[in-house]
Amino acid sequence: MTGAGRTAVLAGIGSCVPDRIVTNDDLARTLDTSDAWIRTRTGVGERRFADAGAATSDLAAAAGILALKSAGVAEVDLVLLATATPDRPCPATAPTVAAKMGLDTVAAFDLAAVCSGFVYGLAVAAAMIESGRAQRLLLIAADTFSTILDPDDRTTMSVFGDGAGAVVLRAGTPDEPGALGPVQLGSDGALADMITVRAGGSEQRALGVLPDTADAYFRMAGKPVFMQAVERMTAASLAVLRDAGRSIAEVDRLVGHQANIRILHAVADQLGIDRDKAVVHLDRVGNTAGASIPLALADGWARGELRPGDCVLLTAFGGGATWGASVLTWPELATP
Ligand code: ACO
Repeated sequence: MTGAGRTAVLAGIGSCVPDRIVTNDDLARTLDTSDAWIRTRTGVGERRFADAGAATSDLAAAAGILALKSAGVAEVDLVLLATATPDRPCPATAPTVAAKMGLDTVAAFDLAAVCSGFVYGLAVAAAMIESGRAQRLLLIAADTFSTILDPDDRTTMSVFGDGAGAVVLRAGTPDEPGALGPVQLGSDGALADMITVRAGGSEQRALGVLPDTADAYFRMAGKPVFMQAVERMTAASLAVLRDAGRSIAEVDRLVGHQANIRILHAVADQLGIDRDKAVVHLDRVGNTAGASIPLALADGWARGELRPGDCVLLTAFGGGATWGASVLTWPELATP
């Protein structure tokens, strides 16, 4: 398929979370927190942490294999991995994932947009397909935040979990179910310090900052992130619906970045979307960073919360700061 009207179409989905469940009561054994506080303030009931020895690439490869099965294909032209917790700073993790999946010498690269990584990845994937540079590709979003959380920081420990979600996108036409609509993206680098891991990059080395273990941990300024997340996800959602020529009333399902139940409800309220239309997965897996949207999609599809023909609005906010939104009509997909 070539030429104008060529669109990226969702053809398969897969997901993977580690087996190890960490409950709020488990956290309360070592931290000054409680199940009641975490449930009320975040909506998280439990999360999954990867076992020692399991890296981001392991979760990503497992989700990717299931997505290929769901699409009924064995090969893709590109593996694109959205992650903020790569296996190491250099080289990229996507080639490792492709190798673990047995995808031979396929093109593979990483994309870093933290919790907005999946939506950014959709935009890149769509551009590759629309331009004819790829016929079919695998977009995986995977994170193991348990590897960068400060075990003494109750704020971040109570929110984040590990996981991976993957989708296969293929060339198709805009009128097909699963055809990806417009994508809205934005960033504000002035807010970089709001969500950060200070150590491990060139900045501290360039400044001659001495290594400090505390800087190797993930830090988040919860309150401002909360407010920015609501504002940016709402604005991006409105913009993408306008671009798609669709109204709020047409939205059947809101799949927002699973940051906090209060954020999901606030975005729904500001958009004028019934809260019941928000797909909620964070109660069982927490905030899985870049993986949260494809994990919520996979879970929503498996549980029958997403139905073929549904108008699904996706929106995310994350470190950078970055944000984005997209919209699609949900297709019939095989569950691997
Ligand atoms: N248990 C008990 N008390 C806690 C906990 C906890 N787990 N965490 C924080 N507190 C305390 C704080 O220390 C503070 O105590 P103080 O008043 O004595 O100083 C109090 O609760 C209130 O703290 P806030 O930070 O104001 O709590 P808030 O209600 O805002 O909840 C949270 C914190 C859950 C982090 C919230 O701000 C949030 O969800 N922020 C957004 C996260 C997000 O959107 N992330 C997405 C992007 S992340 C990414 O890109 C990787």
